[in-house]
Amino acid sequence: MKKRIAVLPGDGIGKEVTKGAIEVLQAIGERFGHQFYFSYGKIGGEAIDDSGTPLAEETVQLCRESDAVLLGAVGGPKWDRLPVDLRPERGLLKLRKDLDLYANLRPTNFYASLADSSPLRIEVIEGVDLLMVRELTGGLYFGKPSERTRQNGEEAAVDTLFYQRQEVERVIETAFELASKRNKKVTSVDKANVLESSRMWREVAEETARKYPDVELTNMLVDNAAMQMIKNPKQFDVVVTENMFGDILSDEASVLTGSLGMLPSASLSLSGPYLYEPIHGSAPDIEGKNIANPVGMILSAAMMLRLSFGLEEEAVAVENAVVQVLEAGFRTRDIAAFGKTASTTTEMAGEIKAALHDDEAILNIMGAYA
Ligand code: IPM
Ligand code: MN
Repeated sequence: MKKRIAVLPGDGIGKEVTKGAIEVLQAIGERFGHQFYFSYGKIGGEAIDDSGTPLAEETVQLCRESDAVLLGAVGGPKWDRLPVDLRPERGLLKLRKDLDLYANLRPTNFYASLADSSPLRIEVIEGVDLLMVRELTGGLYFGKPSERTRQNGEEAAVDTLFYQRQEVERVIETAFELASKRNKKVTSVDKANVLESSRMWREVAEETARKYPDVELTNMLVDNAAMQMIKNPKQFDVVVTENMFGDILSDEASVLTGSLGMLPSASLSLSGPYLYEPIHGSAPDIEGKNIANPVGMILSAAMMLRLSFGLEEEAVAVENAVVQVLEAGFRTRDIAAFGKTASTTTEMAGEIKAALHDDEAILNIMGAYA
């Protein structure tokens, strides 16, 4: 198989973790006989420094012409003082919008070997297999107006939570489709006791549920969902929610796995190409130190193999390699036991790459979210 992959490493640790993921993809190509062609583009702060804009049109074009997009992370203190429309984050938001990546899949799984890295007790997290579906191109992130304004002569500011019904329908439909191939439960998270947009969201969830009689729908208020996620995370299968709620809840969900650095994501559109990125940010405080955890990025590459290229066996091989390396005791600093020496980013990625050549029994740890 021949595939073109647009690679946008971005800022901070984005570059470091992307390198590891590319090496893993190359190793997969060699082992399974595929040709992956990587074309690099700039996004975020790096693009601002280069061209004055966080996402140039030619970069969007590069993504459109590719079969999939792999993205590191954007942002950093250097660009913090820029107006919100020119910040690095704007590049990522624009790319999500331009490619119409409306459904962001963020799986959280339990890794037995990492049980000690989570602040939660093993009884609570053992067996967690949760898939967050975050709406990604609407809601509070994109509603207009979003600006500084004045009211009664005083400074004020406004953001808008706006959804067209059809935007809600497509993401909830995606959540039900995914749930029907998993554990057949959808938890739709909203704030229907306060927000009108949430009332529409809930109506759509209930309508969609009627089309999927074998999938059970639970509507849950977002404040309760935040609590339930920590108290009893095993009750969840697929969780579907508004853009901002999903941003917050997915960072919370990462605590179940042990570290934010572990979580991958895939952003889907109706027509492709899809985009793959870890859920963590650019972590400027540890940039350039070679200590970032590359696993979230490497598992994002595995999601790419599965969801964009239909390469299930190859995806499982990467996921197995990650499990093996964790079980062998390799840890970056974020998941290492207190006082223990940790592996560097390059060592961790190198071990995962090496484990790909080890023919262990196939164990699909990510579940069938495809
Ligand atoms: C994420 C990030 C982004 C978001 C930022 C960098 C704009 O936090 O992917 O979760 O808020 O969506
Ligand atoms: Mn986030």
